[in-house]
Amino acid sequence: MLIEWDIKYETGVKLIDSQHKRLVNLVNQLHEFIMEGKSFDALDKIFQNLIDYTIKHFSDEERLLLIYDYPDFKEHKEHHTLLTNQMQELFIQFKTGALPAASLKVKKFLLNWIVEHILTDDMRYIQYVDSDEIDSKFTDMLLDRIL
Ligand SMILES: [Fe+2]
Repeated sequence: MLIEWDIKYETGVKLIDSQHKRLVNLVNQLHEFIMEGKSFDALDKIFQNLIDYTIKHFSDEERLLLIYDYPDFKEHKEHHTLLTNQMQELFIQFKTGALPAASLKVKKFLLNWIVEHILTDDMRYIQYVDSDEIDSKFTDMLLDRIL
């Protein structure tokens, strides 16, 4: 297991925490597949799932931050874009064979991005949002329908 879920990763917003947990699970699964030397197709599929879910999570987060007028919204969104681009770049390198999935670069990236995203970027916005309101008003499904 690359990342073990820990209380320090909890933002206190259930919706965000459940999405972060799913991201951690996907990262762990990808890491496990890489370590086990799974087929290209299996790695390709899980890597794509991770990218898709990251994009969904970032988009949900941005919609919530807009509602609460988060003062550092622009910077937060820029980090999301940067991370998404870096992840997509790694994915392309993996797909074209330019970068072996088992390389240290992939492992480091997977570990760093999620830990930094949660512990540095997300912990900053927590004081600006109403976690009780988010948890009572929004769910993954509602976010997709309402916002
Ligand atoms: Fe997040």
